[in-house]
Amino acid sequence: MQVTMTVNGTEYTREIEGRMLLVHFLRDVLGLTGTHWGCDTSNCGVCVVWLDGEPVKSCTVLAAMAGGHEVRTVEGLANGAELDPIQEGFRQCHGLQCGFCTPGMLMTCRALLDRNPDPTEGEIREAISGQICRCTGYSSIIRSVRWAAVHEANAAKEEEVAQA
Ligand code: FES
Ligand code: FES
Repeated sequence: MQVTMTVNGTEYTREIEGRMLLVHFLRDVLGLTGTHWGCDTSNCGVCVVWLDGEPVKSCTVLAAMAGGHEVRTVEGLANGAELDPIQEGFRQCHGLQCGFCTPGMLMTCRALLDRNPDPTEGEIREAISGQICRCTGYSSIIRSVRWAAVHEANAAKEEEVAQA
């Protein structure tokens, strides 16, 4: 069957098997290997991408179901050479060690900040509760998200002042 979807702003049409999962479409067909593949049973969250702006575990979505929709992956987070604040937060606060969980964490945490720009520790923990990190112990991930929240708020204030 043929599927057409927009990934990180580019439209792709490809011939696929109907049973192909979105995670495999992204990695194996489009070569977007930033999205990781871990458990394949919806437990680890390393495969999280956005489908029409909502984080989804791409191992639970058929590629065919994403047809006609917008997908965003970790490759679509940065603005050219400029990291998204959530990526910068993970960099500044050591929110990763091996990095295997990181693409999914970034996509979930970016979505959290988009709907809640000032999340509490509890809200961050709840947001990432469907995701497993075997390295960081989560504390540095939470610090990373708070770093991004504070820096985005400061940047917004500076912009307001500059425009006043
Ligand atoms: S690979 Fe999708 S949740 Fe683990
Ligand atoms: S940084 Fe290694 S699993 Fe999260």
